[in-house]
Amino acid sequence: MPQIGSLALRSFIQTKEAPEVNSDDSKFEVWSWPYFVVLLLVMWPLTLWVAMKKFFCHLFCLELKVNTYWVDGVSQASREIKENAGNWRSLDIIYNFYHGRGTWVDNFWIGIRNAQAVRNRKRVVKSFLIKHFSELAMRCEKNLTILSVASGSAQAVIEAIGILRKRGVEVTAYLYDRDETALENARTLAKKHGVEDAIRCVCEDVCNIRKVLRKLPKCHVVEMVGLLDYFKSDSATKMIKIFKQLLREEGVFLVATINHNLECFFLRTVVNWKMVYRSRREFSKVLRNSGFSKFDFLEEPLGIHHIAVAR
Ligand SMILES: C[S@@+](CC[C@H](N)C(=O)[O-])C[C@H]1O[C@@H](n2cnc3c(N)ncnc32)[C@H](O)[C@@H]1O
Repeated sequence: MPQIGSLALRSFIQTKEAPEVNSDDSKFEVWSWPYFVVLLLVMWPLTLWVAMKKFFCHLFCLELKVNTYWVDGVSQASREIKENAGNWRSLDIIYNFYHGRGTWVDNFWIGIRNAQAVRNRKRVVKSFLIKHFSELAMRCEKNLTILSVASGSAQAVIEAIGILRKRGVEVTAYLYDRDETALENARTLAKKHGVEDAIRCVCEDVCNIRKVLRKLPKCHVVEMVGLLDYFKSDSATKMIKIFKQLLREEGVFLVATINHNLECFFLRTVVNWKMVYRSRREFSKVLRNSGFSKFDFLEEPLGIHHIAVAR
């Protein structure tokens, strides 16, 4: 039964060629027509139901342990994502889900468009890093470095560095996160990819960046993916301005933010995952206010994430 559910689910997912990546990363995921049926018939009614439950629980000071049986009740993966919403572990589950684990209900929820989009974003980031550092190496640039801000377990960065090493390109990554467990996981992942000597970890809150600014070198790439989603535009601008100082003169700032989308009510209410959603225009404004005059956007095919390369 789980296999049938999983196969049926996969057959609903259209794929599109992703640029220059390997194995599982060779295709983007693009959910087709069933998405709208799922949204109308399942996600929005569940969202409404959970919103009502939350309202009454709040009114009578009751604790709501399970938002709904159909999501965090029956699906262990969804429950774990809900309990870790916004931290590295939730992304770890979403990134690595299609490796043969979970029930068909897990498959169902981890196949929703936002989950596909997060995996697409990782593919875009990884392929960009491989391409960019390969080009820098061809131009004989030395001591290639990247700073990953709010790195989590830095899966995209570490996988890219692993592939680059096999091609003879050495990159050192500075992984900056406030969560020691994320950095521990990054070390384990780096070991698995044979690049543990290429990472340096900095455990600190971004709000305390001034404390560690001097210890960090100027980098070829500063990557900030999955962090702006938790900051309003004013604080996002202040933060980017500070991290911009860590770019070399010819360096690039790789930064992403989540777009408004129809699943946001479901994420907020049912998965307890609160984020700040921005249009491309709002995102561009943040980048301009942070002092970037030139930026290009990389395509995430579902349009749920904006990914910019700013200079
Ligand atoms: C959604 S994860 C993104 C992980 C990774 N960048 C990726 O895209 O896979 C967000 C990460 O930001 C970190 N984070 C959130 N707020 C932070 C803060 N104020 N200072 C440092 N790290 C923070 C969390 O610990 C978490 O690992």
